[in-house]
Amino acid sequence: MIFPFFAILVLIFIIVILFETQNYPIISKTDPSLRIAIVMVFSKNTNLKNYEIALQTIKCYCKIHNYTFVQLLDTDFNCPHKDKFFRRHCTVAKVLPSYDAVLFLDADIGVVNPKRKIEEFLEEGVDVTFVNRFYNWEISAGFYLARNTQYAVDLLNGFANYEFKLPFSFHGTDNGALHMYLAEHLFPDASAESNICKKAYSESKSYRDLFTFEACIKSLFGVGTRFGKVRIMKKVVYLFIFCFKNTQFRGTGWARDGWLTSMMWHPDLDFMIHGWKTNQLRKTPNMTMRPVQMGRSQWYNPLAGPTDLEKCGPHNSTWSYDPRMLGNKDRIVDSLRAFEQKIALAQVRSYSRLEWLLSH
Ligand SMILES: *[C@@H]1O[C@H](CO)[C@@H](O)[C@H](O)[C@H]1NC(C)=O
Ligand SMILES: *[C@@H]1O[C@H](CO)[C@@H](O)[C@H](O)[C@H]1NC(C)=O
Ligand SMILES: *[C@@H]1O[C@H](CO)[C@@H](O)[C@H](O)[C@H]1NC(C)=O
Repeated sequence: MIFPFFAILVLIFIIVILFETQNYPIISKTDPSLRIAIVMVFSKNTNLKNYEIALQTIKCYCKIHNYTFVQLLDTDFNCPHKDKFFRRHCTVAKVLPSYDAVLFLDADIGVVNPKRKIEEFLEEGVDVTFVNRFYNWEISAGFYLARNTQYAVDLLNGFANYEFKLPFSFHGTDNGALHMYLAEHLFPDASAESNICKKAYSESKSYRDLFTFEACIKSLFGVGTRFGKVRIMKKVVYLFIFCFKNTQFRGTGWARDGWLTSMMWHPDLDFMIHGWKTNQLRKTPNMTMRPVQMGRSQWYNPLAGPTDLEKCGPHNSTWSYDPRMLGNKDRIVDSLRAFEQKIALAQVRSYSRLEWLLSH
């Protein structure tokens, strides 16, 4: 009697495991012939020195995985845009057809965990992937992953050309525009709703107003992540494999801000970290640290020394780290989760200012 019962239990266990893992296509099949590029766009007056530490990690990372690192000057591409923030997306649209996929990144993003791969984020049927910022409810215009398709090229051009449709308000350049553009592009049948947000956009006079406008747009998006060929990735995803809590950030974006956890990171969770400006680097305190929020414009170096590009290649993905920055996984997740909940509440509060904003 006991044996069949036991067998059924084992069967259920296996089915649940299969079901749970199939729900999350964790790593897509890697095709070594894919031409993937990491693209950064600079302006004439960009001080590259200020991004040196981050850039070295990106260059090393590209050598490990045979990705092409592409550093562009935004004036070299005949883009008619006056605002450099819009011009950079026009620039990316021009180079995208030379590769199979392009990961566009702000210059102050560095890699901490070179074992992760960009292919993880190339989901079938998705042409452009954006990421929600961690510290508010904005979709970030500072990084995205685009496949070489006409849809993606058109989307990036449409986004860049939003410069010519900006309202005369506190519009937040490309980051504000990204929200209005995506809403109009993805939900053409919801003009009644998106026009409400558009009115708020044109009334915006401050960051506070801008964030209320963005909360309005995010209310159209809801908590979904897939919108046709566009994906907008979540901040934190919990994977529950049967009864074991197995937290990873698979299913979330490739980069988060370092200050959220006092720069503490964990290889199961993190891939790239945002906010590595050399002039904001602080000396790492010689004490036991906790993964809590610190000042936004500062960071500690998670690496133990300078990156030696000569030693970077497919056979070496072992970097040396400052052990003080290697955190406890569960404590990092708990800290980020608590922060995420605070932000979700702040988003509701910001959204509730909408009526006030529209009536002023
Ligand atoms: C590296 O990528 C290029 C395409 O960008 C490809 O032609 C080449 O075969 C790749 N090399 C290896 C070792 O995979
Ligand atoms: C850091 O602190 C430990 C013990 O508190 C000490 O042994 C070590 O020398 C200190 N290191 C530096 C770089 O100050
Ligand atoms: C691997 O690359 C890193 C980063 O440049 C370097 O610090 C390290 O010494 C290299 N390891 C070997 C065995 O070459």
